[in-house]
Amino acid sequence: MPLTVAVLANLEKNAPQIDGLHPDAWDELDSERTTDAIVAVLQNAGHRAFFLEGDLSLVDKLPALRPDICFNLCEGHLGPSRESHVPAILEMLRIPYTAGGVLCQALTLDKPLTQRVLASHGVRVPDFQVFHNADQPLDPTLRYPLFVKPSREGSSIGIDAASIVRDEEELRRRVADQLEHYRQPILVERFIRGREVTVGLIGNVDDTLTVLPPLEVDLHSYPGGECGIYTSQIKHDPGDTYYYTCPAPLTPELEREIRELAVTVFGETGCRDVARVDFRLDADDSDRPYVIEVNALPGISPGWSDLALAAEASGMAYDDLILGVFDAACRRHGLDPARQQPASDTSGDGRVRVVSDAEGHHGLFALVPFEPGDIVAPYSAACRLPEAERYTVQVGECEHILMEPESLRFINHSCDPSIALDTAAMAFRAVKPIQPGGELTFFYPSTEWAMAEPFECWCGSPRCLGRISGAGDLPLELLAGYDLADHIKALLRDAQR
Ligand SMILES: Nc1ncnc2c1ncn2[C@@H]1O[C@H](COP(=O)(O)OP(=O)(O)OP(=O)(O)O)[C@@H](O)[C@H]1O
Ligand SMILES: [Mg+2]
Repeated sequence: MPLTVAVLANLEKNAPQIDGLHPDAWDELDSERTTDAIVAVLQNAGHRAFFLEGDLSLVDKLPALRPDICFNLCEGHLGPSRESHVPAILEMLRIPYTAGGVLCQALTLDKPLTQRVLASHGVRVPDFQVFHNADQPLDPTLRYPLFVKPSREGSSIGIDAASIVRDEEELRRRVADQLEHYRQPILVERFIRGREVTVGLIGNVDDTLTVLPPLEVDLHSYPGGECGIYTSQIKHDPGDTYYYTCPAPLTPELEREIRELAVTVFGETGCRDVARVDFRLDADDSDRPYVIEVNALPGISPGWSDLALAAEASGMAYDDLILGVFDAACRRHGLDPARQQPASDTSGDGRVRVVSDAEGHHGLFALVPFEPGDIVAPYSAACRLPEAERYTVQVGECEHILMEPESLRFINHSCDPSIALDTAAMAFRAVKPIQPGGELTFFYPSTEWAMAEPFECWCGSPRCLGRISGAGDLPLELLAGYDLADHIKALLRDAQR
């Protein structure tokens, strides 16, 4: 059975404009290139997939669209738990979703708390201290050089060569700068000099968990000014080449240790379906691995993110990476993600969907945006009838066609409709901008002179006409404000003569 999937992300282009925010605040957000690629993979696998911006409008849109599952990429905008905002909405709406849950996302966004949890499970993390102000006494067990970073950012936001501090003066200056700039606790860690390796995981600990080959970022290939760290400069302006080796050249013992550590980190932080764990190998201690951080919502852009590159290096195509994450989530939720032929939604290539509410009322809703004039759904004639019936369009004096596909029969009437019939194109077209989640409605008298089943309209629009019985009962001036089917127009012309 094809599933209906909402791909949720916070696109950089939709980020709010907020005065006083640091200029790199939205560096972590996604681009349409990623969401388009994921929607395409899911559609090619036979599902009905569409993108929605992960903001508060989900609270209204998701109950209307009723996706079976959401593919969650939302990094959130503001707040110390921003990556758990959308999971919390989805949990409240009881809609399944991919990747870590509310607690996991809140935990892993908070680096110091995550390091504490990992240390309590015996995972080696660099010694650290959290600074809430720049004058706090330094823990005497910490030795320079130290590494200073914001405690709740990603994409190396706030990380450059000056993150490495070598004495008290540099430490105080850097901590003060970062507190002012990022307005959050600042993490000061032991600086681990050495190689950098990251490990992607797909699946679940109590199901199948695939550990991708470790990917080494070849930091020595970058200018010396980056000081052997994976800076925001490298992540944001990677130039023509991203220098990495996958699988990383590691001894079998070290590779095994890193893989095992990655699985432990995944499990103990509550990751699900997908994650990436970052390591530094201590050059001053025989490459001993330290966990730097865990990404419970790792970047997943095709051909670019470490996760996608590691998958590719292991022979896993991008489609299989996305479907691996998706299938793992479906299995967790008891959904059947069996592959189908591409969904040819009978009412418009999966771009519209019938939704029924608890009282059994039906409606047709948009899954994608439409602009005025766009074809929303083509129709054809299931059969021709001599009299008007409930779902017919009048095409002659005693000729009415019954519309198909059947889903079109669920379109509700509105006196202020969002779509209209284009009899020449045999399709419904948008007459106003329609957002995903918007209901598709048309003006019933536009298709029948005398309707088979008149009714009292409660559409709530300021233009609401009350009783709806067919074009023949409405004043000409009023009908002029609507798009009418060809035969109704012809009847009106006759009536005017
Ligand atoms: N304790 C440390 N010792 C040495 N280098 C470090 C340390 N912590 C961080 N780094 C360097 O800074 C980079 C970014 O740090 P970190 O992974 O914590 O940031 P992030 O912004 O969450 O990254 P991501 O893009 O993976 O989400 C690391 O990849 C590493 O090169
Ligand atoms: Mg990292």
